[in-house]
Amino acid sequence: MSRLHIVFVLLFTCSVGAIAQQLSDPEIESRVNTLLKQMTIEEKAGQLTQFAGASPQTMDLIKQGKVGSLLGVLGAQQANEVQRAALQSRLKIPLILGYDVIHGYRTVFPVPLASAGSFDPQLIEQAERVAAKEASASGVKWVFAPMVDIARDPRWGRIVEGAGEDPYLGSLIAAAKIRGFQGKSLADPESVVACAKHYVAYGATEGGRDYNTVDISEQLLREVYLPPFHAAVDAGSGTLMSAFQDLNGVPASANHHTLTDILLDEWKFNGFVVSDFSAIHELIAHGTATDDAQAATESLTAGVDMDMVDGAYLKALPGLVKSGKVPASVVDEAVRRVLRIKFKAGLFEHPYTDANREKTDILTPESREVARKLGFESLVLLQNNNDLLPLSRKQTIAVIGPLANDKASQLGPWAGNGQAADAVTPLEALRQKLGNDHVLYAKGVDIPPFESGRAAGVAAPAPASATGATGGETENQPASIDDAVSTASKSDVVVLFVGELAAMSGEASSRSSLDLPGDQMKLIDAVVATRKPVVLVLESGRPLDIRWAPQKVSAIVQAWFLGVEAGNAIAHTLLGDASPSGRLPLSWPRSVGEIPTYYNHKSTGRPTAPDRWHTGYLDQGSAPLFPFGYGLTYTKFSYGNLKMESPAVAANGTLRVSADILNTGAREGTEVVQLYVHDRVAPTSRPVRELKGFQRVSLAPGEHKTVEFTVKANDLGSYDPAMHWIVPSGTYDVWVAPDSASGIQAAFEVK
Ligand code: NOJ
Repeated sequence: MSRLHIVFVLLFTCSVGAIAQQLSDPEIESRVNTLLKQMTIEEKAGQLTQFAGASPQTMDLIKQGKVGSLLGVLGAQQANEVQRAALQSRLKIPLILGYDVIHGYRTVFPVPLASAGSFDPQLIEQAERVAAKEASASGVKWVFAPMVDIARDPRWGRIVEGAGEDPYLGSLIAAAKIRGFQGKSLADPESVVACAKHYVAYGATEGGRDYNTVDISEQLLREVYLPPFHAAVDAGSGTLMSAFQDLNGVPASANHHTLTDILLDEWKFNGFVVSDFSAIHELIAHGTATDDAQAATESLTAGVDMDMVDGAYLKALPGLVKSGKVPASVVDEAVRRVLRIKFKAGLFEHPYTDANREKTDILTPESREVARKLGFESLVLLQNNNDLLPLSRKQTIAVIGPLANDKASQLGPWAGNGQAADAVTPLEALRQKLGNDHVLYAKGVDIPPFESGRAAGVAAPAPASATGATGGETENQPASIDDAVSTASKSDVVVLFVGELAAMSGEASSRSSLDLPGDQMKLIDAVVATRKPVVLVLESGRPLDIRWAPQKVSAIVQAWFLGVEAGNAIAHTLLGDASPSGRLPLSWPRSVGEIPTYYNHKSTGRPTAPDRWHTGYLDQGSAPLFPFGYGLTYTKFSYGNLKMESPAVAANGTLRVSADILNTGAREGTEVVQLYVHDRVAPTSRPVRELKGFQRVSLAPGEHKTVEFTVKANDLGSYDPAMHWIVPSGTYDVWVAPDSASGIQAAFEVK
């Protein structure tokens, strides 16, 4: 390399690739204030405006300084082009480019509902670090993630995007994701600004219908739906997204109580809030505003700083300020918040993306390895009669079902910039490990989409010839149940891959039924009739109605959608390269009529009774099919010797609990040991159990470990009817348990 060349490389690295030092807070405040003083009201409204894509009209507005952010501009070259336009504007304020990186950018990870089941926040953080590195290499500096909505209703398609039903698990995962995205410094070129969404209570949507009304008590809001957002704010989330739906009569994107009273005044959030896509304009449809000017006034004064795509702020704010209807100080405060994040993200110092990073930082073997590990940890073994799993490598395996070799569906519903061709299917992985002769294949049936042409963000699957999909002997013929039966008959064991297409969950993908779509049930019945042992592998974005499964098949694996390495993670499990350790991040309902089913329900005045006069149904029990926290391994664990450091804990003290966990089986395995607590008497009725801790513990056969939990007594508290946080004195139950419905139990006092 010549000397000149070295100098050039150094200069280039300094201008685009160097780790920018984050400016100090006082420096940022002074630079923000200097800029604010120079800005016209039109430029201020522009800073508060985000548009989708970079149309010629948008490019003109950017050059006039009337756009603060773009959504969906991908690739270093395009990113640099729009940034160059922004730097031609009068005040040269860079754009912040945002994108939905829900479970990975190009290396697609398990869907969030799946990865929550790993109960492994550290690994989840690592995955988001990979996602941040890849997205930022492509010019994205802001991700609309994590989605931290608690959901108790699997009809809601967006349950797949969150961490399930539990506020404690959801909070730990929310914080881990923020740390992963944002790294140690937002100014690091490999970090992205996170956006916890959808603030708030979007997951409580009535009837599970997306965008629908939410009407819940303040207690439920504070105890269940707010905690993951609070955790995200405490972890330093740069931004939040306000939700679409109305909350107790006031749209979430114009809700002063949640956006200002709670977020700003109680939690001291100092980032900015962006509305969801056109949610400000939608105030008109909600019926709380007559036009965009009123909508803009309501949203801005409630605490929404940036307007996503509908242009209401850009159009209305200059006039509203000039006429005195909106105080200039309110606009200034919103602009201040946006500029602060841009400074923290190092955008003023390093507006451009180093295009070389796209060649080195995306879809690397290392990132695939993280995806495979997280995929493996996410899948849940629900049943394993007669130890059918792991499969013997000497057997002939019939791989059957519409999802066995469907590349696009492995990725899941919101696959960022994922490409179907990158995905390894279960059929490919099993054949790669065992050879073609030992792995027969038949598709059996197709899954008909509910609506044609809707792919909810999944990159369209390339034709099998282009992706190199090993089509298998039936791939080019129409799927046939007869073929599946004859393939099953030639095998020793059948692995049936059924479930939903990826596009059947996610945004605007709610379902009224949890049944397997299409003719999949017919396929299952025909295959089961061959009397071959059957392993059912379910791929779906929600728990499905599988009441029939425990009797019909020997083994059940919930594989959700595990991303680019799905096939390898599944094959690894089926063949017993390691023992599964994933757990359910939700209670698995028996049927749609049982929804909402969640483990942390209240006791009610009629919890049980010998006769019919109790909380439940005449036609079925009300317990879930599988409880929250449940999942089997290839070994067995026993729990014993539950001990408390002291039988009484001060309200400002610490609870210390331990138990001995012993691997009583013949294989190494990882147990997710869970700690639950129940406050027996309080001013408000309390959940029958609440998760307060968990640990993943790996043990060799015969090995035991004393697992210790430490919980601040303050974290055992609750809201009283006046919504003050208290720690009621009295007796509490405590369980150390393998899931939310069992475990060893003791009691202690809070004094
Ligand atoms: C609407 C979705 O609700 C939200 O989650 C997403 O971030 C935005 N669209 C932008 O794509």
